[in-house]
Amino acid sequence: MTKVSPSLLAADFANLSKDIDMINRSEADWLHLDVMDGVFVPNISFGFPVLEAVAKICRKPLDVHLMIIDPGKFTQQVKALGAYMMNVHYEACPHLHRTIQQIHDAGMKAGVTLNPHTPVNVLEDIIHDLDMVLLMTVNPGFGGQKFIEHSIDKVRRLKTLIQQTRSHALIEVDGGVNGSTAPRLIQAGTDILVAGSYVFGAPNPEERIKELKQL
Ligand code: DX5
Ligand code: ZN
Repeated sequence: MTKVSPSLLAADFANLSKDIDMINRSEADWLHLDVMDGVFVPNISFGFPVLEAVAKICRKPLDVHLMIIDPGKFTQQVKALGAYMMNVHYEACPHLHRTIQQIHDAGMKAGVTLNPHTPVNVLEDIIHDLDMVLLMTVNPGFGGQKFIEHSIDKVRRLKTLIQQTRSHALIEVDGGVNGSTAPRLIQAGTDILVAGSYVFGAPNPEERIKELKQL
């Protein structure tokens, strides 16, 4: 069954505990947390003080997406949150193999994120060490953007690479996930859907998470 990881970026930041209560009650599998530094991406979201407050009350596994340069520097801080998954961008890690090792040594699952222009074959020599590949299906930095159609084919190509290399990596997609893109993404081989505005912009977010899970 497809996993759903709602992105807190689209929540009401003045009422975070209300939205996290909703997540806790819901069928969401994970909570997706988007950290931005204003350098790797042209926006700033939230940092560790907010993540610590969220981690205290969230009962779902934390899926931390670091859109920052040199993310390995923060491995111990992410571990201290009790995070389940630490996602780092391929484009932000010149020594990706070492970074993945450090994440595993810290006891977390390791995910690598690819920007829309980065081809899946750059992962050929690391895919067997990864627990997840996160494909950006919009350019990272903002919620509510239009889905990049080419991503469907990219999911298919990633699925083929995973099968050919007998990797256990899961496929997560992030950006523009909604009722029309999600079924096609699942069909192409997606395991985990990240959804921000489609969940939090819904009249009933809990119900919408349920709908995504049933696709
Ligand atoms: C964008 C973030 C996403 C964002 C997705 O850089 O990585 O997680 O919240 O937002 P939607 O689902 O609204 O496209
Ligand atoms: Zn994200």
